[in-house]
Amino acid sequence: MSHIPKSEFARRRKALMAQMVPNSIAILPAAAVAIRNRDVEHVYRQDSDFQYLSGFAEPEAVIALIPGREHGEYVLFCRERNPERELWDGLRAGQEGAIRDFGADDAFPISDIDDILPGLIEGRDRVYSSIGSHPEFDRHLMDWINSIRSKARLGAQPPNEFEALDHLLHDMRLYKSAAEVKVMRRAADISARAHVRAMQACRAGLHEYSLEAELDYEFRKGGAKMPAYGSIVAAGRNACILHYQHNDAVLRDGDLVLIDAGCEIDCYASDITRTFPVSGRFSPEQKAIYELVLEAQQAAFAAIGPDKHWNQAHEATVQVITRGLVRLGLLKGEVDELIARDAHRAFYMHRAGHWLGLDVHDVGEYKVGGEWRVLEPGMTLTVEPGIYIAPDNLSVAKKWRGIGVRIEDDVVVTKKGCEILTEAVPKSVAEIEALMAAARAGA
Ligand code: GLY
Ligand code: MN
Ligand code: MN
Repeated sequence: MSHIPKSEFARRRKALMAQMVPNSIAILPAAAVAIRNRDVEHVYRQDSDFQYLSGFAEPEAVIALIPGREHGEYVLFCRERNPERELWDGLRAGQEGAIRDFGADDAFPISDIDDILPGLIEGRDRVYSSIGSHPEFDRHLMDWINSIRSKARLGAQPPNEFEALDHLLHDMRLYKSAAEVKVMRRAADISARAHVRAMQACRAGLHEYSLEAELDYEFRKGGAKMPAYGSIVAAGRNACILHYQHNDAVLRDGDLVLIDAGCEIDCYASDITRTFPVSGRFSPEQKAIYELVLEAQQAAFAAIGPDKHWNQAHEATVQVITRGLVRLGLLKGEVDELIARDAHRAFYMHRAGHWLGLDVHDVGEYKVGGEWRVLEPGMTLTVEPGIYIAPDNLSVAKKWRGIGVRIEDDVVVTKKGCEILTEAVPKSVAEIEALMAAARAGA
């Protein structure tokens, strides 16, 4: 069961229904089971919208929200209990469980959906669904609509309006409740322990996957079912590949290793990056780049708060990084002119962050009415500047080539500014070197 209270799921459904037009219905499918190969399935992960509204973790389920329906507004279609299947695959809530444990007003077997759902849609003016996100479900939905249309001569009234659910639901998901922040804090704490463990275990001669194993150990030990995304463990020049996932190279003295990894708890993601030296000691060039990225991140934190817009943190990182690259001789020219022509993009080619929540790159608009969104308390985001100096960048001195650094933390916007959820992982050069030295000394 989710750590989010049952009452909160009910509150979310009510809040969504309050925004729907009168005489409408919202329909959402659970995530399908994904086949990995032949008889092997991927670990099941519920669809984030479905999870948000129900906390119901099973596949083969459909939510129908029908404001004003006399026999109950929240209808859940789900698998029937089946002792034989449950013996093989695990317990199912069944219709009784859907009502008792998940707050459904009414529950039906998923196998009866073709007979029942058209009757629930019939007579409603508007259907809300996540059009385009689940093509197979979209086809089913059209079949149900067509079955109503085919009975129009008998007086059936098919809906005439179809609206994407996303902009209502995704705006709600952007504002995290106290319970959600608590779960995200938990995911952040476990991920922080995982990063510390990887730093402590790091030795030349091990492989990138050796450190990935340390991460996975802490994730599972902390109760996380899986990482929130494929862990990136990138040593040396691999750190310049932004979504590196091979994780199979040897760790060499003199190189940095960049780890971008976070677990998920109750489907809520954490997303942390740390970069540290394999040897436990930064070289002067590594330290210079590292401290510049750290300075950019500090500037970004200062640019996050309720009176600030989404892009201010990014702009702050671009300022600091461009100025610093000029100071170090990696960029040449006037800082303002370099900023005006986005010169930093040769070294810093991504943005300073993204929304974080049930999806690691969470839902929610970044612009409203064409303007950058103003931040509000309860919004959660990452702050992750980086500098990546390509190994084949011949326009910079050789000593800089192949250095890749990213530092990433998760924050929640507060009334006064922001709170960092992932502060438990050491970040200054001195702290990292001290932690790694202590681990080597067997302390
Ligand atoms: N790990 C994906 C990201 O940092 O956006
Ligand atoms: Mn991120
Ligand atoms: Mn990341």
